[in-house]
Amino acid sequence: MEHDITYYAKKRHTTKAYDADKKIPAETVEKLKELLRFSPSSVNSQPWHFIMASSPEGKERVTAGTDEKYPFNSPSIRNASHVVVFASRLHADDAFLNQLLEQEDKDGRYPTPENKEQTKGGRAFFVGLNQTTPEAEANWLAKQTYLNLGQFLLGAAALGLDATPMEGVDTEALDKEFGLREKGFASLAVVTVGYHDTEIDYNASLPKSRLPYSEILSEI
Ligand SMILES: Cc1cc2nc3c(=O)[nH]c(=O)nc-3n(C[C@H](O)[C@H](O)[C@H](O)COP(=O)(O)O)c2cc1C
Repeated sequence: MEHDITYYAKKRHTTKAYDADKKIPAETVEKLKELLRFSPSSVNSQPWHFIMASSPEGKERVTAGTDEKYPFNSPSIRNASHVVVFASRLHADDAFLNQLLEQEDKDGRYPTPENKEQTKGGRAFFVGLNQTTPEAEANWLAKQTYLNLGQFLLGAAALGLDATPMEGVDTEALDKEFGLREKGFASLAVVTVGYHDTEIDYNASLPKSRLPYSEILSEI
């Protein structure tokens, strides 16, 4: 039976333990990559970079962000099939904005040179609004990367996978491990993906808890 997307929004849960023997099939990994690539972002800024680890060595490198300060997250990184580090650009400089524009041109989004100029101006306007300080800009760009993370979690569930979003990671340690700052990026969070251990993943059988509509929604 086919389910609508709300089924997966309610079915997904933060996995607390993985079955280390179960690996995500290659064609499903490709779909995970598509989710990362096709996320929306303000002015199509796509300010992200992802590190996807699937080998024991690669995953071990990601535990540089957990072993010391957040050891409770380490087993999931080691046992999950795939681990994704979400990193975000710190500054959208002119070269990057130009790269975006040229990509859109190549992808056929500009029937006329005027269309291209218009988008260039619109994007520069919104980016400028968020460049009041380097921190404000990095925060704005990080919000875009978090949107991607949200879509990724729902998408992974719809692909039949279990996942764990982790802010319990030492982002400074990850930045060092992967040389991210030198490249103009900072890590934000990690998401592990795979298949949960049906015996030890206690969160799978707990009921979901969410605030009621009366608290979170005003319909006018
Ligand atoms: C950005 C983000 C960071 C999180 N960090 C962690 C974490 O480090 N470790 C963990 O076990 N759960 C983490 N969680 C899971 C949340 O506790 C969980 O999403 C929340 O309790 C709702 O439960 P559910 O995901 O099972 O629906 C994180 C969730 C999000 C969205």
